[in-house]
Amino acid sequence: MNHPVLEAWSSNRAFIFAVTGAAVGLGNIWRFPYLTGENGGSVFLLLYLFFMLVIGLPIMIAEIGLGRAGRAGPMQALMRLAQGAGARPQWRYLAVFGGLTLFLILSFYSMVSGWSLAYLVKSVDGSLAQQSPEVIAGAFGQLMSNPGLMLLCHTLFLLLTLGVVAAGVNQGLERLNTYLMPLLYLLLLLLAAYAVTTPGFAEAMRYLFLPDFNAVSWKVVLDAMGQAFFTLAVGACALMAYGAYMPEDQSLPRAAVVVALLDVGVALLAGIAIFALVFSHQLEPTSGPGLMFITLPIAFSELPLSHLLSLGFFLLLLLATWTSSINLAEPLVAMLKDRGWSRLRGTAVIGLGVWILGSLAALSFNVMAEVYPLGFLGGVFAEKNLFGLLTSIPTDIFLPLGGLLIAIFAVYIVPVADIRAAIGGSETFYLLWRRMTAKLAIPLTGLLLLTSVLTFWGV
Ligand code: PHE
Ligand code: NA
Repeated sequence: MNHPVLEAWSSNRAFIFAVTGAAVGLGNIWRFPYLTGENGGSVFLLLYLFFMLVIGLPIMIAEIGLGRAGRAGPMQALMRLAQGAGARPQWRYLAVFGGLTLFLILSFYSMVSGWSLAYLVKSVDGSLAQQSPEVIAGAFGQLMSNPGLMLLCHTLFLLLTLGVVAAGVNQGLERLNTYLMPLLYLLLLLLAAYAVTTPGFAEAMRYLFLPDFNAVSWKVVLDAMGQAFFTLAVGACALMAYGAYMPEDQSLPRAAVVVALLDVGVALLAGIAIFALVFSHQLEPTSGPGLMFITLPIAFSELPLSHLLSLGFFLLLLLATWTSSINLAEPLVAMLKDRGWSRLRGTAVIGLGVWILGSLAALSFNVMAEVYPLGFLGGVFAEKNLFGLLTSIPTDIFLPLGGLLIAIFAVYIVPVADIRAAIGGSETFYLLWRRMTAKLAIPLTGLLLLTSVLTFWGV
């Protein structure tokens, strides 16, 4: 596969920055806080951290390691490794399944990322500055009830993504990312520091960190597992491409640990800032996808330089989601390119599909709110509109299933010497990875997947 961003890593840091670009995005700043709120706080957070450690991280290492061992794009890497091990070449279809997952995720990802564009305009025209929390919450409701505006935002964001993918010049963006992402972290740190001074801070800390085991349910457990996969961008073979171009001497486990720590750090900062505001203003933690888009503008409106803060934040969020969405789209286009399609044609076809699905998902907030496309399947399907389906099935079922197969392939199919060499690092770390993957990540993911399929039908 020809992946222009990845042709040569100048340094170990470049690799870490690039994988962080894929990892840090909506998952950290938007999805993590709202799922935490929907699932009652601390128990969700605890489970999420646990799954990051015992499932997300080991499978991330497996996924990047396979790319490194296969020295090619996901499909070829899987085929090459399978053949080398005397296994079926059909393992390559794991990359196709990953592609389907990425496609479904990209459709809602682009739609939601587009909301940042609307908020950029609101930052500039000052319509949210010095407003009451009610007005700010109302502005989000107005956006959700305006299908035309939502479609416009989704279309523009998708064009931004496709433009870069079509041109195949992600390198410039990666570099921009390298310099600007630390600013996003700094801004979140500032917001979290401000949160400490608000009256709701103590309650937010209790809500996030004081375990309340009455809140445990299968939904909480499964949401936490799905979030671990989603936030690390693991389970769809998207990270495999990165391994293929890793510097020879770089330790994969160490790089993966750094990325995971950064990823968790960004989510925690966002969570602390958002919940302190939720409790300071008697907002509902369970308010769902609007949570971040309501709470953070409230913080900006209370702070000096509110226009500038708000503008800076949504610009940086846009950049973070842009790099993540390019990482969602690029493997799809690369796969079509490997079948002889031109980059432009591949981008256009993928883009059209994502545009249609994402546009329908935007209608889930207004005209199609009560349309349940898979309602005939019964169970939870009876109450999930298109947005609900797109934000649960690909992340809670497809990513874990893909991740499970990736882990099984890395541990039980690929010859030990190959995966050992690909993972690099110390022998202790390697053995720890192998044991964790075989004894914890694989059985736990398998068990939870089974549970989630059963709970989908309310068994
Ligand atoms: N990890 C990204 C986020 O948290 C989402 C993503 C998933 C990106 C899968 C690429 C592949 O926003
Ligand atoms: Na993430």
